[in-house]
Amino acid sequence: MKIALIGSGGREHAFAHAISKSKLLTHLYILPGNPGTAQLGTNLAIDTSNFNAVAEFCLKEKIQLLVVGPEEPLVNGLRDFFEADEQLRKIAFVGPGKNGAIMEGSKDWSKLFMHKYAIPTAAYQTFTAENLQAGLSYIQSHELPIVLKADGLAAGKGVLICQTHEEALQEFEAMLMNNKFGTAGSKVVIEQFLAGIECSVFVLSDGNSYQILPVAKDYKRIGEADTGLNTGGMGALSPVPFADHTFMQKVEERIVIPTIEGLKKEGIVYKGFIFIGLIKVNNEPYVIEYNCRMGDPETEVVLPRIQTDMIDLLLATANGNLHTINLHINPMHAATVMLVAKGYPEAYEKGTVITGTDLVQQSTIYHAGTKLNEQGQLLSNGGRIIAVTSLAPSLQEAIALSNTAANQIQFSNKYFRTDIGYEFNTN
Ligand code: AMP
Ligand code: GLY
Repeated sequence: MKIALIGSGGREHAFAHAISKSKLLTHLYILPGNPGTAQLGTNLAIDTSNFNAVAEFCLKEKIQLLVVGPEEPLVNGLRDFFEADEQLRKIAFVGPGKNGAIMEGSKDWSKLFMHKYAIPTAAYQTFTAENLQAGLSYIQSHELPIVLKADGLAAGKGVLICQTHEEALQEFEAMLMNNKFGTAGSKVVIEQFLAGIECSVFVLSDGNSYQILPVAKDYKRIGEADTGLNTGGMGALSPVPFADHTFMQKVEERIVIPTIEGLKKEGIVYKGFIFIGLIKVNNEPYVIEYNCRMGDPETEVVLPRIQTDMIDLLLATANGNLHTINLHINPMHAATVMLVAKGYPEAYEKGTVITGTDLVQQSTIYHAGTKLNEQGQLLSNGGRIIAVTSLAPSLQEAIALSNTAANQIQFSNKYFRTDIGYEFNTN
């Protein structure tokens, strides 16, 4: 089977890795990919925001399965573009259409959806420039802290947790009146703050049935002990110690089933991954957000634990046969440590030489932001540079292995968190 995968990060390297283990694969193309995926297939420098270019390539190469990693092409309607054409429609496609990707594309839409289907989430109200005054009064009488969310995609920066009313008023006005997040902030969701511990639940939906994938926890803050600025993710682990059977049963009954049923009732045939960001408050799960894709770096701990053939799983998703799949999960613990450039998520240097990847024996390396120069040297090419994942019988062993690998890989401005999983450390 000829497969194309869209994306260029650690998530896509992990997908490429899982796909390339399948006997069903004849050739894998990655659009545009990275030096890690280049070892598993053919990278192609196609601009994936150009849907015509993606379509032309898929027809020319007779692609049979297209898997979309990031949210942007989905929110912008790549699936709809393929469905509108008689030939392109025949290609199995993993990723929702525009009407499903809106779960991530509009926070207001997802809050309304949760409200309609009684899915537990924080209390909220949405405001626009038209009812600015009402929003300002709402903030003044709101308890602290106050969560402000830009409605649309804002590259992970659209959520603000304000500790004072003054800050909330100022930020609210900046979004609605001064385009702080561009059009993404032309609607603002004001939300109750929930205090608890977070985890990420991943669900595959084929438009009718679903499969729950291994649960993961990601470490978003740049600093040790969850301090400092938010990042794309500094590490991850799976399974999650506090997400036990009882908790996951609540998640399935109160959140996953109503989400899948709600989508069907809305007439949305959702074929792809649903990433549910959850918070556990007094042992009860609440939804923080939906995403229409897998998480990064969560994918780097979730996929290595899935023993079921990845192409079988993806095809079943695209073809509506997920109920026929027997999901086999490796009971081992997976831990990922993300190597980043010092300075990230603010300004940082690119193009530093990376060495030592060949020393890593017991962990898997996923390239996140790297490139090769003309001499074939590996260079950093982003804030998040390399993710290392280890599997071991215990969480502590998995973390220790990933930390060892993170020490073996060298580049001049390397930084990583040494405390992934710290809150579960029983030693
Ligand atoms: P998001 O961009 O939606 O992933 O939100 C970023 C982060 O903001 C989440 O991972 C949470 O840590 C935090 N957050 C979002 N909404 C809330 C809320 N209602 N209460 C507490 N924390 C929140
Ligand atoms: N790691 C969080 C995300 O992918 O959005």
